[in-house]
Amino acid sequence: MKIFLDTADIEEIRTVARWGILDGVTTNPTLFSKTSGSTYEEVLKEICGITSGPVSAEVVAEDVEGMLTEGRAFAKIAPNIVVKVPMSEEGLEAISRFAEEGIKTNCTLIFTANQGLLAAKAGASLLSPFVGRLDDINQDGMEVIRELVPMIEMYEYESEVLAASIRHPRHVTDAALIGSHIATLPFKVLQQMVHHPLTDKGIITFRQDWEKARKEAAEKNAVGASASGSSRQN
Ligand code: E4P
Repeated sequence: MKIFLDTADIEEIRTVARWGILDGVTTNPTLFSKTSGSTYEEVLKEICGITSGPVSAEVVAEDVEGMLTEGRAFAKIAPNIVVKVPMSEEGLEAISRFAEEGIKTNCTLIFTANQGLLAAKAGASLLSPFVGRLDDINQDGMEVIRELVPMIEMYEYESEVLAASIRHPRHVTDAALIGSHIATLPFKVLQQMVHHPLTDKGIITFRQDWEKARKEAAEKNAVGASASGSSRQN
């Protein structure tokens, strides 16, 4: 399963790129609002300089022509830009127009497998069901992934399912087991996946045992050296 980072924070993206596990990045207006000092276009350009994987840039217009204007401008920033378009009647039309123009899209705000099916038919490259937001309203968000993945594979759509709104590491495990093509993760969830209390404790114990053994060996050598020195004097 491919792993995307769900952030507009440049330092987080640089860090995960250094780990060697970054396949792409998703941004949205909320994530951009947490950054400061640069325009959305500048942030996107910088992200595309860090990863050659798909970088999702979200439109805010609600009408087709507005979405097309924003998306075409994003697509000029870098070849790996994917235009993020919300699921709506206008969104479907924009997705199909982008597909005709060869511009890749990520259909966002998907909450049912049927919405995902429509986005795939319209020609979206990525389908983003929001798992966590469904869990928040007491529904099983992962069920959408469970239904959508076989639909996409059975009819051989070119779209990939991207599990979004991921809240904790268990979501990632479940998405991977179901066969989601991609999951996009907040930086914190990626860090949680790296760590385990027994791993962290084990690293400390190995270090302490190594230092203890080296100290004991150094002390033994020192005693041996002083013993052979005094026997030479005699
Ligand atoms: C990603 O493409 C989505 O915009 C994001 O995962 C939404 O996550 P949230 O529900 O935590 O805001």
